[in-house]
Amino acid sequence: MRVRLLLALLAALSATPAAAEPLDKLDLAIGKALFKRPWVPAPASTRGDDGLGPLFDARSCATCHPADRRAPARLENGTAERGFVLMIGRPDGSGDPVYGRRFQIDAVPGIPSEGMIGVTDTPLPDGRIARKPHPEALGYGPLDPASGLSLRVGPDLKGRGALAAVPDAAILAVEREQAKGKDGVKGMARRVAQADGSKAIGRFGWKASQPTLAGQSAEAFFLDLGLSNRFHPEPWGDCTPTQTACRQALHGNANATSGDADDELEIGSAVLDRVVAYVASLPQPEPEDLPRAEAKRGAALFTSTGCAQCHRPSLPTADGEARMYTDLLLHEMGPDLSDTMPEPGVGASQWRTAPLAGLSDALAANTGLLHDGRARTVEEAIAWHGGEAATAQRRFGALPPKDRAALVRYVSSL
Ligand code: HEC
Ligand code: HEC
Repeated sequence: MRVRLLLALLAALSATPAAAEPLDKLDLAIGKALFKRPWVPAPASTRGDDGLGPLFDARSCATCHPADRRAPARLENGTAERGFVLMIGRPDGSGDPVYGRRFQIDAVPGIPSEGMIGVTDTPLPDGRIARKPHPEALGYGPLDPASGLSLRVGPDLKGRGALAAVPDAAILAVEREQAKGKDGVKGMARRVAQADGSKAIGRFGWKASQPTLAGQSAEAFFLDLGLSNRFHPEPWGDCTPTQTACRQALHGNANATSGDADDELEIGSAVLDRVVAYVASLPQPEPEDLPRAEAKRGAALFTSTGCAQCHRPSLPTADGEARMYTDLLLHEMGPDLSDTMPEPGVGASQWRTAPLAGLSDALAANTGLLHDGRARTVEEAIAWHGGEAATAQRRFGALPPKDRAALVRYVSSL
């Protein structure tokens, strides 16, 4: 969509509250344009498109989810390129007292940025490459020693609407089924405390920390782009009280005059809801065509090796199925996949079963696999599986080479 047309639509949107009607095709087109558009720092000549930062780590959703897919996870001379997120946190869910919950690599003019994300890759004797983040060029002094770090890449967004449509009851049924601990697999649904004290089942993010697409998108607007919204109304984003220049910087929509609280947000609900509707509309990835016998053999090995226990080929949804190869549960994956940032109720080595649908795209784009993009191939990703996945990992290693190749070919086609 042309920029000028988009701006006109945006201006119209800021003047109308969130859509009362169900969102239609035009809304999705607007949502897509908003997903791709780079936001700009305040003040901008056009109302409704500014407010980026003051701290940010990308200018658009599409920077970390290019063409709605997984981020490329590239390193340049030991520094993370855009598409990574470096989370900072303590077991109670709070962030660093100075840096907050994100280590932002960019800032609007006049505000010091927090630094750069250094990444050390260390080859191991078995051929794997271990990966560790270390913040560099720190703009606000040292991090608190109690602050943990988690390096993550932007995942593929295709089929997340289908994952949103899986009823909680279906996730809890799989959790009950796994409670017997067959082969050591014992997944746990993520229960996320809500503002009103209730618990919701988390399903989005590498640790299933967000129950809804709206919650996940609103957090990205706030922490990654520095844009306030109804979930996070503070216009200064992730700037902590000690980052004073950042707290006092100009913010977007500062000249809103309607007195309407939603109108004063940098991302009003009309914008947020359309972006969310766009993400929810992205279809499930189509697997590559394999010769029939090959696909059948691969699927059988996928089950007999134990991969399908966690990477469930299908979960039921209200009107069909999510063929995403995940159980949406957290699994203890062993110390090799641990980082230093536990989240409330979730250990540093627990991860949501990564949906394998879309893997063929990730391999074609050479993005790197696993939460921090460390694995170069499917075999390498499997080699990192430990903990509850140790049995499946051992079985995979014990397969005759021909079967191992057939299983890898199958997984690579998803
Ligand atoms: C700086 C990079 C970055 C930006 C910008 C970004 N994301 Fe993400 N996105 C991520 C990362 C990293 C995750 C995984 C988060 C986690 O592990 O909790 C993620 C997860 C998601 C998910 C959940 C996917 C899943 O598999 O569970 C959705 C949906 C999403 N992002 C939407 C958005 C939208 C919408 C925007 C723009 C408002 C956006 N993202 C901006 C990096 C980014
Ligand atoms: C106990 C549950 C469990 C079992 C069993 C399991 N996995 Fe996984 N798998 C996971 C989790 C959790 C992740 C995400 C780990 C991370 O990113 O740190 C993952 C990640 C992956 C990835 C990387 C996906 C991505 O998006 O980067 C691949 C490939 C994979 N698994 C394949 C397999 C195969 C093949 C098998 C069988 C040999 C298998 N897994 C068995 C839980 C499991």
